[in-house]
Amino acid sequence: MDCTAGVALLGCGTVGAHVAQRLLHDRDAIERRSGIRYQVRGVAVRDLLKPRPEGLDALSFTRDARALIDDPAIDVVIECIGGTTDAMELVERALERGRAVITANKDLLATHGPRLRALAAVRGASLRYEAAACGAIPVIRLLDDALAGDEISALAGVVNGTCTAILSAMESGADYDEALAGAQARGYAEADPSSDVDGDDAAHKLALLMQLAFGLAVISPRIRRSGIAQIAKREIARARMLGYRIRLVAAAVRQRDGARAEVAPVLVRAEHPFAQGAGPENVVRVVARDAGALVLSGNGAGGAPTASAILGDLVTTLRTLRGRHDSPQRTQALNAALEIAPFFAELARHPELPRFPVWDDTLLNAPVSLASQAYS
Ligand code: NAP
Ligand code: HSE
Repeated sequence: MDCTAGVALLGCGTVGAHVAQRLLHDRDAIERRSGIRYQVRGVAVRDLLKPRPEGLDALSFTRDARALIDDPAIDVVIECIGGTTDAMELVERALERGRAVITANKDLLATHGPRLRALAAVRGASLRYEAAACGAIPVIRLLDDALAGDEISALAGVVNGTCTAILSAMESGADYDEALAGAQARGYAEADPSSDVDGDDAAHKLALLMQLAFGLAVISPRIRRSGIAQIAKREIARARMLGYRIRLVAAAVRQRDGARAEVAPVLVRAEHPFAQGAGPENVVRVVARDAGALVLSGNGAGGAPTASAILGDLVTTLRTLRGRHDSPQRTQALNAALEIAPFFAELARHPELPRFPVWDDTLLNAPVSLASQAYS
């Protein structure tokens, strides 16, 4: 391989456009962290006349995704198309040619994951999909890497931001159609939002998580699911009066000869972590034999959080291509800290216990540009 990696991006919609922007604007940081340069050789879309977000003019758009994948200079294919028809053909084509593939497509993995992983193994190609379940939350890495030496017995969570956004908006008085339109406008919903509201998207994610957690070739059609489209505002209000929220929960427990799994709207106590999100936030609880219970939460939907997970997979992939997967990239790239200012001094004091600062999560809201500079 040339020392510049060739990257192909398939799709430039909600997720793909954010990935394209990051590829262009965060090039220095990505190259420094991965130890290798890259070139975006092309972006495949369906409609060349569709307006794209500003700042993407430097990219070369094409309708011919197959030719882009076949370009011998391509090392990495990032799939942000969605669905299981064109995306399946293109991902298979890329893996057949030994390209590393990164995808956000849970439908694809929940339906064809075992087959695609086998193909990747045969071709010696890498297949990464952190963005396919719970957006920016690194739940795939948790199950696949961090807990790889443990036995996972159960997992459950709120894994569809569109449903949470709809239920939450209906709690505040919105009608169902208005609430769905709001979730679509914010980029949380699938191209066909019935996948979200009927529970299919959550079932896809659950199947993918079960594949990794339990080592079972689970495909999502096997998982029973019910959605939120039939829930009335008065039921949501009644649940609140009783101290509950209605949330679409996906849950699975490993059993001796398989697993129990289901996706359904359930009553969750208002103070429970599953009830805290109002939109794109996902929460996943994983129970492992030795680790015990771990809870992850964060942004699971929307272009930017999803792009974050894809770019993480890209850096990992590029490091592997460069043969520097285990090199201490971040340590090498750190600047000397010029000054370490006190942190807790900034916090308010409780009048009853003035010795102790009162923790405030908002102090962690550092501008993103500062976070990038830490590695420059
Ligand atoms: P989207 O907005 O509908 O974008 C799809 C893109 O794919 C469009 O740019 C479209 O081109 C392009 N496309 C469709 N068919 C194509 C083909 N045959 N060849 C080339 N390009 C083609 O979808 P999205 O919301 O970005 O989702 C993309 C994937 O990310 C899906 O698998 C989804 O499940 C997953 N995901 C989404 C989110 C989220 O919050 N939205 C989060 C996690 C994962 P045109 O623009 O020309 O129509
Ligand atoms: N449509 C999905 C959701 C996108 O609402 O959670 C993230 O996978």
